[in-house]
Amino acid sequence: MKNRVEVLHGVNFDVLDRRDPEQYGGMSLQELEVQIKRYAVDLDLGVTFFQSNFEGEFVEYLHRLPELADAAIINAGAWTHYSYAIRDALEISGVPAIEVHLSDVDKREQWRRQSVNADLVTGKVAGKGPDGYREALEMLRRELGVEPPTAA
Ligand code: DQA
Repeated sequence: MKNRVEVLHGVNFDVLDRRDPEQYGGMSLQELEVQIKRYAVDLDLGVTFFQSNFEGEFVEYLHRLPELADAAIINAGAWTHYSYAIRDALEISGVPAIEVHLSDVDKREQWRRQSVNADLVTGKVAGKGPDGYREALEMLRRELGVEPPTAA
């Protein structure tokens, strides 16, 4: 069954708990990942995580993605708005991906409204905090054709 989802976090997510709580909720990356893991278990999806502050490392991870996962959730942080290197690597990976942002990027500064990955991803969820990851997992679940777990 194709049900492996990689959740990729980009630059500055390692210090999520030190970022503006108004925008990002004040949780740590570890707490966010625990929450995402719960959603995934609920939805019968396998989930793994990756974070890097180094663009080249992130690119190399995307190169390996097809071996590691059937689909991806990508929150590349600020790279979303300008990194064509990451955009190209995501395209090379060929893995279906949903873009997620904790904050409502379309209602913030102008520069956050642009995503260089917009035409590559199959969907985008923004401004819903951790729940946005659940929505993205549900979208990928449909895309991967994972059946609902049978009731006991
Ligand atoms: C973010 C939004 C980006 O604009 C910002 O640079 C981030 C976090 C979000 O999850 O809301 O690092 O991707």
